[in-house]
Amino acid sequence: MHPQEQEAAQPGEPVSPDVADAAPELPLILLSHRGPVTFGRNADGERVVSKGSGGLVTALLGLAQYLGDAVWICAAATEEDAAVAREAKRHPVRVITTPMPHVADEGEEGPDVLVDMIEIDEERQADFYGVFSNPILWFIQHGLYGLAESPVLTAAEHHAFEHGYAGVNEQMADELARLVEERDGRALVLIQDYHFYLVADSVRRRCPNVVLSHFVHIPWPGPEAWRVLPPWIRERLLRGLLGSDIVAFHTRRYARNFLLCVQDLLGLDVDPDEMTISVDDRTVRVRHYPISVDPAALIALADSQEVHRSTDELSDRFLNSGNRLILRVDRTDPSKNVVRGFLAFGTLLDQHPELVGRVSFLALLQPSRKDVPEYSDYISNIGATVADINARHTREGQQPIDLQLVEDFPFAVAAYCVCDVLVVNALADGMNLVAKEFSVVNRRDGVLALSETTGAWEELGQDAVTLYPFDVQQQADALYEALMMSADERHRRLEAIRAQVVGSDIQRWLASQLDDLRVLMR
Ligand code: F6P
Repeated sequence: MHPQEQEAAQPGEPVSPDVADAAPELPLILLSHRGPVTFGRNADGERVVSKGSGGLVTALLGLAQYLGDAVWICAAATEEDAAVAREAKRHPVRVITTPMPHVADEGEEGPDVLVDMIEIDEERQADFYGVFSNPILWFIQHGLYGLAESPVLTAAEHHAFEHGYAGVNEQMADELARLVEERDGRALVLIQDYHFYLVADSVRRRCPNVVLSHFVHIPWPGPEAWRVLPPWIRERLLRGLLGSDIVAFHTRRYARNFLLCVQDLLGLDVDPDEMTISVDDRTVRVRHYPISVDPAALIALADSQEVHRSTDELSDRFLNSGNRLILRVDRTDPSKNVVRGFLAFGTLLDQHPELVGRVSFLALLQPSRKDVPEYSDYISNIGATVADINARHTREGQQPIDLQLVEDFPFAVAAYCVCDVLVVNALADGMNLVAKEFSVVNRRDGVLALSETTGAWEELGQDAVTLYPFDVQQQADALYEALMMSADERHRRLEAIRAQVVGSDIQRWLASQLDDLRVLMR
């Protein structure tokens, strides 16, 4: 199928590109694991605040100005967050969301959101986040288990589900229900991601007049993948989601897989044409809305002095004498397939020795979930692979791979601007915003080398060079194709990708959801 055909209109109301027109008529309550801000202490012991991490937070932050008096519930992520939560008692902290999120001073004007941080018991959080959400749910939904050996579900995992995952979900549902009741039982509740599959059902039981949407930001695989979990767990997860009015995904494929799961694993009636499920005398709609980026904000950042300084440095370092730069920007997550990406680059240099010394690979990797053993092992594996390739191909003191373990968004944007090829070879990715960010700001007619198993491929695959994530030889060949592509062809493809991203931006993502939800608010 033509990639863009899959983005055709879905059943339901037509989308509105104007988020302001679609602003909700009900008070809005958001729930996500990470919040818009997180607190810490600097070297002088003063409290400091920074933006919460992750693509989901970035996407939602830019939209706060359209959301009226929204409250955003999240987990207290640090000790200092917990201290703030205690000080604030039951009164949420007011946060100004742009240009950099910060706690509002008395009387300060600006786009804002009330942040309600929930303190979670440490042991419960470890079970909820470090055992059940990551790796179990994350690994199932990204197809990361080597099933001959893992997972091995024992009493510890059962406990992590009941005590950790279900426990934290109930704690969040209690807080949501309290806030809904404070609003006379009528509110629009937007639940985000895989951490909270049990929340919607619990809130609906207590607040039957609520309008509820649950957005799943990661892939949703078919029924067989879910058989890794015993029925009493997988059925609870599915039933929990069915407490929503709309269950939403980034792509049509994930939405279809969800329908199949409900049919096969719960035996419920589904309507594949209307994309609906009948449950307890209610209709649950299953929809897809591809998340995107804020092009204006990215262009402004790319034009900042900080980014200009970095693009100069990067150009001096990597682009002299017609040399070329391949880039990747990812969390150190096994789903990102970093190791095979480096193996492919090593293969490229082995098979095209004329490129040695002419092409560099800059990898900006943000360390992630280091308390989960699979993640720390993966970082070691990445380091060993890079050392091996650099040992084989260093020329005149110049190493072909520059691996930087950093989280520095302006620097990543500078690298997007000047690279010749962006590699996204993820094994599975709900969307992948890196591909979209790069396409908005790149200044060298860079080529997007994109895995066919990312959500972004459905929109952008036609003008990308497609990567098949398990096939290292194919990825090496695709990198060669990208590097050898004519200037005209590179220009045409990047312009097409950019037009698609700009035409379907983050505002549209929210506006389409609010349009569909508005019908249910009457
Ligand atoms: O949807 C996936 C997500 O929740 C995104 O916010 C982000 O890509 C990532 O996971 C963040 O993971 P964590 O909160 O575990 O650092």
